[in-house]
Amino acid sequence: MEKQLVAVMDFGGQYSHLIVRRCRNLGVYAELIPHTTPYKTIKEMNPAAVILSGGPSSIYADGAPVCDPEILNLGIPVLGICYGAQLIAHIMGGDVNRAGMREYGKTELLVDDKTDLFSGIEDTEIVWMSHGDLIRSLPDDFDVIAHTAGSPVAAFRRNRIYGIQFHIEVVHTPRGEDMLKNFLFSICGCDADWSPESFVESAIREIKETVGSEKVILGLSGGIDSATVAVLIHRAIGDLLTCIYVDNGLMRKNETEEIVRTFKDNFRMNLEVVDAEDRFLKRLRKISDPEEKRQVIGDEFIRVFDEVAARIRDVDFLAQGTIYPDRIESAATSDLASRIKSHHNVGALPEGMLLRLIEPIRDLYKDEVRAVARTLGLPDSIVIRHPFPGPGLAARIIGEVTPDKLRICRDASAIVEEELRASGFYDKTWQAFAMVGDDLATGVLGDERSLGHLVTIRAVESVEAMTADFVRLPCDVLEKISSRITNEIGGVTWVAYAISSKPPSTIEPC
Ligand code: XMP
Repeated sequence: MEKQLVAVMDFGGQYSHLIVRRCRNLGVYAELIPHTTPYKTIKEMNPAAVILSGGPSSIYADGAPVCDPEILNLGIPVLGICYGAQLIAHIMGGDVNRAGMREYGKTELLVDDKTDLFSGIEDTEIVWMSHGDLIRSLPDDFDVIAHTAGSPVAAFRRNRIYGIQFHIEVVHTPRGEDMLKNFLFSICGCDADWSPESFVESAIREIKETVGSEKVILGLSGGIDSATVAVLIHRAIGDLLTCIYVDNGLMRKNETEEIVRTFKDNFRMNLEVVDAEDRFLKRLRKISDPEEKRQVIGDEFIRVFDEVAARIRDVDFLAQGTIYPDRIESAATSDLASRIKSHHNVGALPEGMLLRLIEPIRDLYKDEVRAVARTLGLPDSIVIRHPFPGPGLAARIIGEVTPDKLRICRDASAIVEEELRASGFYDKTWQAFAMVGDDLATGVLGDERSLGHLVTIRAVESVEAMTADFVRLPCDVLEKISSRITNEIGGVTWVAYAISSKPPSTIEPC
């Protein structure tokens, strides 16, 4: 069965991804494509519909983004949203001009035609507007299907081409989802057949076709992306997949054991666990600069991975857990596999080793990866765990990474995690951990004064980590964390709570 696709052309609008997500949430697979995508490419994609997104430009501005006008002659439904609608109007001979008064925010829409796009919608509806230009008039063969006090053409139709000046994809347009349903199901005739289950089914089919009887290797980190890819590929090709897990000694408490239990014992995968703690700690000795630490860790990972990969004979594919946000800016192709030189991928694999890259979850957003992971039976300990940085606990150890600071950071972080789970704060928190540096502070043990480490707790809330704020944890939760850390972990005398936001701080201290 051909995969049904709605192509969303990106004109740089802040809500472009939301359009894609709304379609997928309605069970219709959609993809964001650059506005420069040629007509021929789109034709080959054979989409069920094209949606033109909004954008920040005025269509008369120098360098304003345009699309190939032939797209309007594909014979399939097209929906232009905001800038996308103005562009359609402009291409088809309408008059688009600066608005006398900008329409911004909640606006009353007066519906003039309820036959298709606005079927089931009230005569007046609240919609979300955000535009400086407006469509003043259209050629005679267009129908105006809605207007507002400020926009004589708030929505139009010509055959199966539609334009709407407002944003149906945002929650501030309460009936937006119904309008999108009308477009996708009544106008385009789409089926709601995209779901985590259908994704798994088609991904397995595609992996089988691509890989055949060749061997695949995958670097498993314990994070959700590589874990999902591992299970997906294993379902498709079984023992032809070998996962390589490099234990760099900087992992969370019990993480290695959990990975072995999950992937080797439960899923019965070929898993090479490499105990490389000594190698990493040796190379990290005397290094306190955060950037240098990261580089050393990245470099050592590649060395270890290469060594193990080289021992596995006749490998043809390298799998990676690349996800949609990772490749948004690169406008990458959607081929499942593309031939690459080994040194172009994450690991500089041995000279001359030519691997093909396979990225089965390259089209998924993070929450979709979680849904797929659940469908595949991955445990909650992987599916809903806080993100963990590539350099591991080294990102939370200020100054040199020593075995003693590593022990304190690991054990204290485990206590933070346990207490957040116990108090119900874990799921409301983006990341929470303990950090430790070289500061020593005086404490009393029995009657003795002694010097011990200062441990700082960080718990932040965030959306996608670009900005963050500290979580307002109740004092009794903080008190419990503090008393457990000082009582259960030797060598700690003080506990502090980090209350700076990002910016100016970052989430990780190094
Ligand atoms: P910062 O500390 O920059 O972190 O506010 C933002 C998010 O990225 C994670 N992070 C990393 N992830 N390699 C990674 O894979 C890294 O070097 C790295 N540094 C930070 C961090 O945990 C947070 O979620």
